[in-house]
Amino acid sequence: MEQIELKSKILMAQIGELTDEEQALVHQAITSTAGSYAPYSHFRVGAAVHLSNGKTVVGCNQENVSYPAGICAERTAIYAAGAQYPDTPVEMIAIAARGTDGLLLEEPISPCGICRQTIVELETRFHQPIRILLYGTKHIYIIKGIKELVPLGFTDF
Ligand code: THU
Repeated sequence: MEQIELKSKILMAQIGELTDEEQALVHQAITSTAGSYAPYSHFRVGAAVHLSNGKTVVGCNQENVSYPAGICAERTAIYAAGAQYPDTPVEMIAIAARGTDGLLLEEPISPCGICRQTIVELETRFHQPIRILLYGTKHIYIIKGIKELVPLGFTDF
């Protein structure tokens, strides 16, 4: 039997170390937490996607009393981008969140499994990696593509 080791690489940075474009996207993710509808979790998440046509589309989590009917910020942004700019590759996504106290989280949050699979689909569809910026007030994680978070992803059958 052979053991296969799967390694992930993530960069940890301060906001000033990001490019201007990356910083702007992070700020849009932060700003879009304001539109979150989270009366059940009180956890407000914002996401911003940067497309290959230079456009940015934002999203935030939208909850429902029937909990599974809610949707995360990441997919809200990704699907809004798909609706507004069909067939346009996503190049980058930034994510930020506020805790139940309303303050931006110190540590970055990371996309849930369904959102990860949604990003896998986008990378597969457009044949290019999506840069992922996870914002925390202490530091930002820069991830060069979803394979770092989903190392053995399901892409085809
Ligand atoms: N949520 C997101 O929007 N994105 C994430 O990456 C993690 C969780 C939302 C779903 C739900 O509305 C709330 O945060 C608490 O889980």
